[in-house]
Amino acid sequence: MTMEPAKGILSVQVWRGGADGAFQVFQVPRQPSQTVLDVVTYIQRSVDATLAYRFACRVGMCGSCAMTVNGVPRWTCRTHVDKVAEGGALSIAPLRNLPVIRDLVTDMREFFDKWAAAKGSFKGARSKTEPFAQVRPDSPERMRADAGIECIGCAVCYSACDVVSWNPEYLGPAALNRAWTLVCDERDAANAERLRAVAGDAGCHACHTHMSCTERCPKHLSPTAGIAGLKRAVLRAALKGDL
Ligand code: SF4
Ligand code: SF4
Ligand code: FES
Repeated sequence: MTMEPAKGILSVQVWRGGADGAFQVFQVPRQPSQTVLDVVTYIQRSVDATLAYRFACRVGMCGSCAMTVNGVPRWTCRTHVDKVAEGGALSIAPLRNLPVIRDLVTDMREFFDKWAAAKGSFKGARSKTEPFAQVRPDSPERMRADAGIECIGCAVCYSACDVVSWNPEYLGPAALNRAWTLVCDERDAANAERLRAVAGDAGCHACHTHMSCTERCPKHLSPTAGIAGLKRAVLRAALKGDL
């Protein structure tokens, strides 16, 4: 029989160890406006200093605090316990689809390597002696690029994507969203190369449009829409013989 936690106390199971680790249960006092990151921080500072986890800004900007909370990937610094604790219980685990280093810390290398593989860095065409490119904030091009630019690299979408689980080579929603943002950036000069990078078997065509990335993105971005845009851009480039 599962015991209900005492009133004012959260029963929190936290992943300990590497991929073959196990959950450990902690009792954590409830606080008003408590976030999941507050809960993890309480455990690390007041109960077990060996608990490994990652955070930086605590205000939803750095993207480093994402974990799996009651089975769902979330940014923990902006996730209130009230919204997610079921019957006063929380389960906190590392992000899915990434190697676990220890406890709640995953190795983000392959996630960011895929940004590089998708040519996710800006390549300008102008030299520093030329005037700045001027892109009107209300131009359709700018608005298309803006739709994906607020990504904080948290990997919540990557962790939510079943295609990444089935095919570890898949570039994934965040890298493809980044590629799409650059494809829409009229100042960028590397689009032929970028479209070739995302056109392969592990690129945009592997997306099954499940929408989990879009449902879970804490910044309300739509990698699914960006990936659909990439599919169209790849097709156009292929028909023109540019790939
Ligand atoms: S829409 Fe594509 S990238 Fe997003 S979760 Fe589904 S399969 Fe993954
Ligand atoms: S697209 Fe959203 S969920 Fe994915 S890494 Fe960027 S901010 Fe996080
Ligand atoms: S700690 Fe920076 S986004 Fe959560």
